Amino acid sequence: MSLDKSPHSCSVQNVTRTWDGNGAVHVRVPGKINLVLAVGPRRDDGYHELVTVFQAVGLYDDIVAEPGEPGEFSLTMRGEGSEELAVDETNLAIRAARLLADEFRSPKLGVRLAIRKGIPIAGGMAGGSADAAGTLLACSVLWDLDTSPDDLRDLGAELGSDVPFGLMGGCAVGTGRGERLTPALVRGRYQWVFAFADEGLSTPAVFRQFDELGLGTGAPQLPNGIMAALASGDPRALAASLRNDLQPAALALRPELGELLDFGLAHGALGAVVSGSGPTCGFLTAGESQAIDLSGDLTANGLCRSARRVVGPAPGARLLS
Ligand code: C5P
Repeated sequence: MSLDKSPHSCSVQNVTRTWDGNGAVHVRVPGKINLVLAVGPRRDDGYHELVTVFQAVGLYDDIVAEPGEPGEFSLTMRGEGSEELAVDETNLAIRAARLLADEFRSPKLGVRLAIRKGIPIAGGMAGGSADAAGTLLACSVLWDLDTSPDDLRDLGAELGSDVPFGLMGGCAVGTGRGERLTPALVRGRYQWVFAFADEGLSTPAVFRQFDELGLGTGAPQLPNGIMAALASGDPRALAASLRNDLQPAALALRPELGELLDFGLAHGALGAVVSGSGPTCGFLTAGESQAIDLSGDLTANGLCRSARRVVGPAPGARLLS
């Protein structure tokens, strides 16, 4: 099994299946940033009502699914930090494969999964959700199941709030706990720089901190202008609309992120925001050359582990072979 094969085909909506020699299926899934994350109070079920604008960005996890023995659900992972992740039944990818198999009630289904992480782990970019999204698509193709994109998104919502968006990609407004999606009109390509931290942040811990700070008192609402900014394709307009209600909670847990955000703004970023629950920070720039410069400055400054230039929006989970 190899994750390094060159792509042959890429379409989700009109799945054209191209199988490689051993019958493996290869899917690529993007990470995301929340351009807006407006968070309301904690609900009775423990989740927070929110309104968000997701943008998928060009940092990817790759998932290869090979036929397994009946009832076999196994996983190997590689990529930075992946040795910290459990590859047992608690892993979201295994849970996704099992959920899909249970849905079709066939004891003959089995899969060997191999994941290469390109999305930072516990970084606020929905890397775990991406693996679940990609596994749902890969297994439905591997097992030749009759599933529509809507079916997969519904199953994805059972696995995590961000999983449906990993399947959809592009740009979308998310409501509920983030799982109810409406595609957003977006023009242009946005040049981001992402700065990665040495250590991840736990999403539940950041939401807990949000509650402890007494935030999220009213119904969450999109700020004025965000949809018009996206439709305009003007990065300056989008930068002015960036907002993350979880940012004060992430900064309370990691005060050094404040310095990192300020540094990016002082070195050419049009806007800077903590990605989701953090600690990854996203810096929106005016164009490619500004992004190249900022990426170099952030890499050199020692305030983050590394920095990388990334373009958004990116397509959702797609079949490569
Ligand atoms: O949905 P998911 O399992 O990815 O969420 C992880 C955790 O993040 C939840 O257990 C909850 O603590 C928190 N969360 C929340 N409100 C949301 C989404 C996530 O409180 N809308």
